[in-house]
Formats: sequence, structure tokens, C-alpha cells
Amino acid sequence: MSNNQIPVLIDRSPSLRAPEWIRIKQLEEQTSALRNSVICAFNQLLDLKDLNTGVHSTRLAEWGMRVGQELGLEEAALQNLEVAALLHDIGKVGIPDSILRKPGRLEPEEYALMKKHPEYGWAVLRMLPGFERAALDILHHHETFDGKGYPAGLKDTEIPVVSRIVCVIDAFDAMVSSRPYRKGLPHEEAVRRLKEASGTQFDPVVVECFLTFAQAEMATVFAAAGTSVSSAL
Ligand SMILES: [Fe+2]
Repeated sequence: MSNNQIPVLIDRSPSLRAPEWIRIKQLEEQTSALRNSVICAFNQLLDLKDLNTGVHSTRLAEWGMRVGQELGLEEAALQNLEVAALLHDIGKVGIPDSILRKPGRLEPEEYALMKKHPEYGWAVLRMLPGFERAALDILHHHETFDGKGYPAGLKDTEIPVVSRIVCVIDAFDAMVSSRPYRKGLPHEEAVRRLKEASGTQFDPVVVECFLTFAQAEMATVFAAAGTSVSSAL
């Protein structure tokens, strides 16, 4: 046997293939850890800009994953959903504080700038390998079911399902959350408004799915997020 035959024999030996699979597993774990680090880093960026609270993002991710699982989304879509639920407003980092923190109604030109935040978020996240799909889901999180949303005016199932889910849970969370300049709506009123806009602003299937568990488990969900229903009212 000549020396240059040895590598071929080694490559074909099943018992010696294990290190290759171990290496692949290690690479997968490293990729997953890097992905989680990126999500954490962007979350911290949102915190620095005071656009985020741990409770808010945890709550959205929990609700989003529940709805996604109920609707039968595949694992890859669920992973994108988690990213989109956590980072959907990352583009607000590019909006001036004078607009973000304005307590009153925005002027038309201010509102036009505010509406840029999904595109800003998409432009940033799409640069990251593995986040391209989540970036698209973030781009469309302010589309409405009737096609009157932004930035593209997509309607119905033209809107990515992850974007439709984030749209509903983000709106509900915004309604029940208190802000420095206004008190959050009572849970029942938020549910009523969600139902009222079902089929126009929101995907009715997503609304029904969300409300099915949200109404039954709201106290548990709020408690898990570190607050209570009464404090959210
Ligand atoms: Fe948004």
C-alpha cells in the first residue's frame, strides 16, 4: 500500500467519521450561541434607547410563540417569530427622540418619519446571515389585513404570517401597557378593540387564536411576565 492510499481508507471508515459529525454539532452550537448573542445585543441597544422593557419583550415573545405553535408554524418560522417579536421595533433606534418621546399627537411629517422604522429595522437585520427572513417579517409588521398599512400596503396572506402575528400581539401589548403619559386600557377593552379591528387591521385567524388562550390565561401570562392583570389595567 502506498502512502497516498491511506487517507482514502481513513475517510471511508465509518468509525472514523464521528469527529466530523462532532465538529458539525459544535459549529451548529456556535452558530446558535452567536445568534442568541446578536439578539441579546440588539435587545440591549433597545434598552439603551429606552425603547424596551424586559417585561415587554418577554411577554411578546411568549405570546408570539404560543400563537405560532397553535397555528402550526414550522420550527424555522418559530425561530424567526421569536426574533421578530423581540426586535420588531429595532428600527426606532433611527428615529429622533423628539418624535419617539413626543407625548401628544405627531405632526404629519413626524408621523411620516416614524413610519420609516420597519424599513430601518429591515435594513439593519438583513445584513446579518441567518436573520434575512426575520428582517422581512419585521419590515411588514405594520401592514394591515385590509391592505391599508405600511410600508408596502400588502393585504391578507400577502403579509408574512409572522408579521401578522407580531402585529396583533404588539397592538394588544401596547393597549394594555401604561405609558408615562397615559394609563393602559383595561384588559376587556383591549380585547373588544382587537375583535373590532379583526378582519380590517388584524388577521382574524391570528386574533381568534391569540384570544383563545389570552382570555383564559391572561392572569398567568401577566404573572409570568412579572406583573399582574390588575397592574396592567
Ligand atoms: Fe413598530
